[in-house]
Amino acid sequence: MCGIVGYIGPRNCVPILLEGLRRLEYRGYDSAGIALVMNGKFSIHKKAGKVADLVSLLNAGNSELNAQLGIGHTRWATHGEPNDTNAHPHWDAKKEIAIIHNGIIENYLAIKTKLLREGHTFESSTDTEVLAHLIGVMFERTNDLCSAVRMALSEVEGTYGLVVLSTRDSGKIVVARRGSPLIIGVGEGENFVASDASAIVEYTRQVVYLEDGEVAELTTQGFQTMTIDDVKIDKVVEEITLELSQIERGGYDHFMMKEINEQPETIRDAMRGRLLLDEGDVKLGGLTDVMERLLKAKRIILNGCGTSWHAALVGEYMLEQIAKIPTEVEYASEFRYRNPIIGEDDVLFSISQSGETADTLAAMREAKKKGATVLGIVNVVGSTIARESDGGVYVHAGPEIGVASTKSFTSQLTVLALITLMLARAKGMSREDGKVLAKELASLPDKVAHILKQTETIQALANEFKDVRNFLYLGRGANFPVALEGALKLKEISYIHAEGYPAAEMKHGPIALIDENMPVVFIVPRDGIYDKVISNIHEVRARRGRIIAVANEDDREIEEMAEFVIPVPRTYGFFGPIINVIPLQLLSYYMAIARETDVDQPRNLAKSVTVE
Ligand code: AGP
Ligand code: GLU
Repeated sequence: MCGIVGYIGPRNCVPILLEGLRRLEYRGYDSAGIALVMNGKFSIHKKAGKVADLVSLLNAGNSELNAQLGIGHTRWATHGEPNDTNAHPHWDAKKEIAIIHNGIIENYLAIKTKLLREGHTFESSTDTEVLAHLIGVMFERTNDLCSAVRMALSEVEGTYGLVVLSTRDSGKIVVARRGSPLIIGVGEGENFVASDASAIVEYTRQVVYLEDGEVAELTTQGFQTMTIDDVKIDKVVEEITLELSQIERGGYDHFMMKEINEQPETIRDAMRGRLLLDEGDVKLGGLTDVMERLLKAKRIILNGCGTSWHAALVGEYMLEQIAKIPTEVEYASEFRYRNPIIGEDDVLFSISQSGETADTLAAMREAKKKGATVLGIVNVVGSTIARESDGGVYVHAGPEIGVASTKSFTSQLTVLALITLMLARAKGMSREDGKVLAKELASLPDKVAHILKQTETIQALANEFKDVRNFLYLGRGANFPVALEGALKLKEISYIHAEGYPAAEMKHGPIALIDENMPVVFIVPRDGIYDKVISNIHEVRARRGRIIAVANEDDREIEEMAEFVIPVPRTYGFFGPIINVIPLQLLSYYMAIARETDVDQPRNLAKSVTVE
């Protein structure tokens, strides 16, 4: 999910690679490295940390690095801790091929097992190094780099933006794309490759966008594109018109909007290689060692802060209703200080995007000290919570730059749904029932993509309410946490006061707030408690509250009762929050735009709260 840059041509590529990696820096990453071909040999330099740390490493070498062929990578770890060894580039057994890779090789373990049996040894714990070795094996058969890459990729499942060099076939760069963007920068007597135009736009605005399943061979004289099956294809060279700042945000005005729109892909990534549709089951390698303790657990406790706590609240519904496991949720900041009664019969999940939130980490340590099994549901690989837990599941949402959590929330919910299905099946859910849930989970990315097409409706809604001073969000069941999340999103980026409540709770006081100036967002899907929420809508209408309903597309009844309706596709009850939160993310975004606040860095906030 991170940064790639490559160069072949007459210039010294070292400054081009380093400047390109610096341009990619905004995407967030944990390590960086370059591979140069100098005098027919590789010169590889890589390091955990920032690009500046890599530059210091290069300067410390004092050697004047000068190469006309090279590649650079900023890593966002998915397999293997962020450290010097796991940083890219990785090379093959003979150290004659070097690769950099964005994405996830789903079947890397099966390939690695086979290569180990054939005598291969590996330096890193990454999936990428396995691919490098596989390409090396194919190179022995073909003695042609491009064919070797295509043959290796025909055995690979998963996603890649891939760039390959060889000292044995050194007049070229071979690149390939499936599920992770790659562009070719076309120059005069030189060519570039990058994961993002921002890395090369200062050298050329002539680019070729590779599509999934395409491979290309770049030389100083040009490039040739083909499919993995070696069917030649002609590609159009396009002109980049976006400004650099926009390019860095993928064409969006803000990282938050980019990340909201990444959710079909990030939800897919959370399930990639884990959801077994045919078996109606789930495979989560990070929980294998603790599966017995999970199944024997008397209680599961879900901890988190902010949005991650909201995810925990949804997880409680999933785990209790589907996996039938007693589950409790608590703010990590409260849990850590109340001397909780917890022991070895309990399992605590710490949910955290950053994996560094001080309260969540402290709560996990407290539970561990008391003998509980502690597990992480984390986005940042190798973060403290991930490292100190007994196991866990990475959500694979990629770097989340916007302070307001969006894609990490839906990825957390997706992982909670995967854990729930896995435990439910292990506890006796039938394969048929499991297949129904697995199929519905697999349909979620497209349903989210469908909602994202409604930005105009939601933008108009935001302009209608941009000057209000208060907002209420109401939902029942698993949509109560969605109400809380919608209110938090609005608060933290538009600075409007907003509260989320269980819809039924209104009559116990908050309904005194309702008048014609109070917009009330109801999350009201056609589920088992639909009629109850409708009653609550009537109660608000009777007091002239202005009603905004997030409701199912085929619900005609709601149109009579709500001033504004945001239609969403139906889904299985407890997966609903993954769908229903999307309009609320968009509403908060457009309200903030209308109020001209700082969407990506709202006042007073930090992306990771590492203090108490
Ligand atoms: C949510 O939009 C905020 N960024 C904040 O509430 C966040 O969810 C909370 O600080 C927890 O962060 P974590 O997931 O990194 O632990
Ligand atoms: N899966 C690879 C790794 O963990 C690539 C990660 C990335 O996209 O940066 O090294």
